Amino acid sequence: MKKLPIEKHGLNTSRLVLGCMGFGGGWSRDAITEEQVKQAHEAVNAALESGINFFDHADIYAFGKAEEVFGRVLKERPGLRDEIFIQSKTGITFPDKEAGLPTRYNFSKEYILNGVDGTLSRLGTDHLDTLLLHRPDALMEPEEVAEAFHALKSSGKVRYFGVSNMSAGQIKLLQSAISDRLVVNQLEMSLHKIGWLESGVHVNQPEFCETIFPEGTLEYCRMENIQIQAWGPLAQGLYSGASLEGKPAAVKETAGIVKKMAQEKETTTEAIVLAWLMRHPAMIQPVIGTTSPERIRASAKAMNVVLSRDEWYTLYVSSRGVNLP
Ligand SMILES: NC(=O)c1ccc[n+]([C@@H]2O[C@H](COP(=O)([O-])OP(=O)(O)OC[C@H]3O[C@@H](n4cnc5c(N)ncnc54)[C@H](OP(=O)(O)O)[C@@H]3O)[C@@H](O)[C@H]2O)c1
Repeated sequence: MKKLPIEKHGLNTSRLVLGCMGFGGGWSRDAITEEQVKQAHEAVNAALESGINFFDHADIYAFGKAEEVFGRVLKERPGLRDEIFIQSKTGITFPDKEAGLPTRYNFSKEYILNGVDGTLSRLGTDHLDTLLLHRPDALMEPEEVAEAFHALKSSGKVRYFGVSNMSAGQIKLLQSAISDRLVVNQLEMSLHKIGWLESGVHVNQPEFCETIFPEGTLEYCRMENIQIQAWGPLAQGLYSGASLEGKPAAVKETAGIVKKMAQEKETTTEAIVLAWLMRHPAMIQPVIGTTSPERIRASAKAMNVVLSRDEWYTLYVSSRGVNLP
């Protein structure tokens, strides 16, 4: 079987990643509850039973409560930490209304080091398997990021490094100063958000290129064995049972095709939506964001579905709503 790019660096993770942004009760400042801890246990159990051993976090998710709740799960399940891979991200600063400050990004050495210390303390672990820089900081200084990464690597706090929402040019700039190979780039990609394909099919037709997906990023990551992870891969359930009220005709039609394919293949609609991403030769790793054990199990079925070329193109063309050029 073909290896995932991330496996080529020595990280033998599952094909699917469970995104933990929905853990910890969402975006409120209230303290975590026992119900949220129970929900996290159930989601983690469903993931492990389904063969998912990779968990995606960020220091900001639920204002830190997603990591805090996950830390409770780790504490209550001794031995679990050694069986799983944990990824987190840093680099985004929330707005400060009192100080009149908007959302900002910060890749300074001090911010990155403090960010990781906060994450490790909330998770109650001594290391992260992968650390991603969450969103490109316009003021990033590659040498400063390199210093931070070096300190994190030599102290054993982080094993591998990567980025999120970055173009090939931004990755090259960072990599020019960082001695460790960057191994992950996490981007929004799904059967609904198809910009990652559109920039490729309209290569000499700029008038059609309405996408903001940075051209050449997919190709660069493939060439450099940088694992592409897709956030938002279920398109928030658009093709797998979420309400279609008021949605465009192309979305409704695509949802119908997904349903029919799932019936024909005796699998779930989630599996079809994810298998569509996974059929791409970039060996994309979907980061599913559901907290529902049932939807986690339904998603994991994607690991047993392979779409044919014709099925893949049928879904792609249906999602774009117009024929290919
Ligand atoms: N790097 C970045 O900038 C970035 C940005 C956003 C997210 N992420 C990561 O990517 C992960 C996934 O992102 P995501 O949550 O946006 O994407 P997603 O996996 O496409 O969607 C998951 C969300 O959709 C809901 N959903 C799924 N199927 C549904 C259905 N049939 N009916 C109703 N609701 C349904 C889920 O609710 P339930 O929980 O109720 O199933 C959950 O809120 C996150 O957890 C996070 O780890 C990264």
